[in-house]
Amino acid sequence: MADLKKLATLLQAHRERLELTKAQLAQRAGVSASFVTYLEKEQRRPSLEVLARLMQALDLTTSEKRELVRAAGYHPAEELTPRLHDITEQLAELPDSERTELLEEFSRMIGRWRELRRKRVRHIVIPIAGWQPRLLSPEQLGKMLRPALEESALAGLSEVILVLAPGKAVPTFKLPRGLKVRTVVQEPQLGLGHAILTTHGVVGDEPFAVILPDDILLGEGRHCLRRMLALYEEYRCSVLAVTGVEGAADFKNYGIAQLGKLLRENIYLVKELREKPTRKQRSGLTIVGRYVLTPQIFEALQVTTPDKNNEIQLTDALNLLLRRQRISAFVYTEKLFRVTPIKMLLEQLIDALDESRPERLEQAMQITKEALQALTTL
Ligand code: G1P
Repeated sequence: MADLKKLATLLQAHRERLELTKAQLAQRAGVSASFVTYLEKEQRRPSLEVLARLMQALDLTTSEKRELVRAAGYHPAEELTPRLHDITEQLAELPDSERTELLEEFSRMIGRWRELRRKRVRHIVIPIAGWQPRLLSPEQLGKMLRPALEESALAGLSEVILVLAPGKAVPTFKLPRGLKVRTVVQEPQLGLGHAILTTHGVVGDEPFAVILPDDILLGEGRHCLRRMLALYEEYRCSVLAVTGVEGAADFKNYGIAQLGKLLRENIYLVKELREKPTRKQRSGLTIVGRYVLTPQIFEALQVTTPDKNNEIQLTDALNLLLRRQRISAFVYTEKLFRVTPIKMLLEQLIDALDESRPERLEQAMQITKEALQALTTL
């Protein structure tokens, strides 16, 4: 939303700082004097192009420019703004005859900016090519996907992209109204980040959402993605869901987010991300399997170094993306059902073996049995 009052006040203050009359500012920016008057009377909202010319004429710092852009109701699309500022600065230095190329780039970027603002999230990527879903039959997988599909429909998404393991049949499920489904095959199996990367051709250059269906959200929790999409619309940056840590084991079994600035209740900027930290990291929140991602994640995934298991981690790519774009975190507070990774259960068994305590071993066996049962009867 534009704040015309603030815009008018800022423009006037900057103009007066430079001791310019309205006519002088108008001439510098290539607009009419009456347009400047209208702006200062809160009666007009400038186009982005005109705003850029005014900013250039007013000789503003980057943060002053951002403030004006916001007051005029535009979202400074993170990766475009610095370049736009550069261009406006360079334009001021150049003689008319040498401006054409930069002006062309400028209008291309403005076009792209508009396109970014217009793009709504349509696709929901659901990876089920990991070795755990591969243990399940198409019927069982279909059951496991049901809450994820409902959550996607509630969020108003329209196209599901299932990432399947090679040779795996499409799970059997009833598709909620309004959803279409497409499948891609992840070959070879190089981790979650790689699974996301295989959807690039289908998703294209658009923001998209991801659900990891082994984090099951029911009841009120099913609105998680819908809320995250609203945040994406508002802040125009990737959004992660995070939740509190339950025990020390969480640190080594999940992605861990360090949060920065509080934007408002339960919404933060992300400071740093680490996938399953092995060192003694003892702070942060765990990443829940819900993401809204900007298309730049694909570029980040392409240059992400594989981890020690030769897997490309989405968390590592997001950490790279943090250098270019801000990422926000939505603290999920409803009930979360996490399908315990089988690896974790096996680790418990092995620890119990290590300690040579039969009662621990029995207890661990029992947990494993129950978890496997829960997984197959979902
Ligand atoms: C994945 C993510 C991890 C996240 C988790 C949530 O891990 O890599 O960051 O915390 O899902 O379930 P995975 O379950 O694939 O090991």
